[in-house]
Amino acid sequence: MNIPVATVGAATAGVLDGLERLQGPVTVVRRCTELAELVAVSQSGIVRAAVVAGDAGELTAALAQRLGAAGVALVALTDDPVLRRRLDTIRILNAPAGVDPGALAGLISTAVQVLEQAGDASASTGSNALADPAAAFGTGTGGPGPGPAASGTGEPDVRTGTVTAVWGPAGAPGRTTLAVNLAAEAAAAGKRVLLIDADTYGASVAVSLGLLDESAGLAQACRLADQGLLDDVALQRIASDVSLRGHRLAVLTGITRSDRWVELRPAALSGVLEVARRTADVTIVDCGFSLETDEELSFDTIAPRRNAATLLVLEAADTVYAVGAADSVGVPRLVRALSDLAAAVPGVEPRIVLNKVRAASVGRQPESQLRGAWERFGPGREISAFLPADYDSADASLLSGTALLETAPASALRGAIAELAGVQVPRRRRGARGWGAK
Ligand SMILES: Nc1ncnc2c1ncn2[C@@H]1O[C@H](COP(=O)(O)OP(=O)(O)OP(=O)(O)O)[C@@H](O)[C@H]1O
Ligand SMILES: [Mg+2]
Repeated sequence: MNIPVATVGAATAGVLDGLERLQGPVTVVRRCTELAELVAVSQSGIVRAAVVAGDAGELTAALAQRLGAAGVALVALTDDPVLRRRLDTIRILNAPAGVDPGALAGLISTAVQVLEQAGDASASTGSNALADPAAAFGTGTGGPGPGPAASGTGEPDVRTGTVTAVWGPAGAPGRTTLAVNLAAEAAAAGKRVLLIDADTYGASVAVSLGLLDESAGLAQACRLADQGLLDDVALQRIASDVSLRGHRLAVLTGITRSDRWVELRPAALSGVLEVARRTADVTIVDCGFSLETDEELSFDTIAPRRNAATLLVLEAADTVYAVGAADSVGVPRLVRALSDLAAAVPGVEPRIVLNKVRAASVGRQPESQLRGAWERFGPGREISAFLPADYDSADASLLSGTALLETAPASALRGAIAELAGVQVPRRRRGARGWGAK
């Protein structure tokens, strides 16, 4: 197999001459004068690999993702050890500027193979490589990256924490309420918790927790991750702190205007989740509702996509909660959304949560009514929890900008969410209506 390659950077001249003298397996078909030209050449389909020297400092995860989506593997040449570590973090294969031409040819072949394998893996698992181009490129949390992901501090990559996505259809079924309170319960129980607002339509975690800053912590974290500069320390610095019963809840607030969604590129977000798994026991992500991927029908498959952040989180998460409003509008909407979810993220096994359960909307014994209706709709998945409608408690906690465990600790709504979070809370007094988590 002969690999056509484009290059950029004067520093490569000697190495490239050496590559050509090898007469295979790599042919340099274009020597570009600047990075923009290299990107354009890569997207024209005439090369399968790109070698960047000189400009290697300008490489980002998003750029690598763009080239990867065009089927072009990337190799960087630099002698700067700090830059090389950064490139390792964003999984761009790299070598010293004066690398032996034979070794460089081997590295280019490896990079091409890795890209092909990642593409095959996403095709066979049905994972949405365009939703998660990071996986195609090998930067996804579960992706077959070419090398070990070193953190910016040079620590080994130990992924211990879990990621939980809270998702649900349009119509404000209570995704943010569930995400915030699941995170709060885990934090108050002594776990290291990171709450991320990745809703690209209506970020509201900050306001729910009384955080008035306009810092869009997630966008900042994505920016650093894109450059390979996000490490545990940087993540801690960017995250806002919320104190809950003397425990810390770290929060990456969402984008402040919904037109900033382009800042949440999947390759970068994937890097944020990777660091999150190292720094937090539990990461909870409040997701946008929409899974539409219509843009994929366009020819410009590398255009940024608004719902890519949600799709990436749903693919990467260990647990996905699908929240629906427990009424005659919310339940059918959730059923339809679940089939969209199965199509967009094959293999995902969401835990169903029906929220705002109240007799007035479904009749007496609402839980058994809902269970019956759910079985008739037939999505074939059990309901994991029924969260009662409790407007007084929900309003009080929104008004005071904190979690239910602070404003309504004895409420049935808080109890049901705590139970879902696996946290023991004292039961309500006898005679009071309990909560129906299963
Ligand atoms: N169990 C509940 N009982 C009463 N009110 C609730 C309950 N759960 C959520 N709410 C209220 O419903 C409203 C919408 O909730 P929330 O913001 O959590 O929904 P969402 O799905 O995140 O909506 P959005 O589409 O805006 O992201 C809020 O006012 C919230 O306080
Ligand atoms: Mg919300």
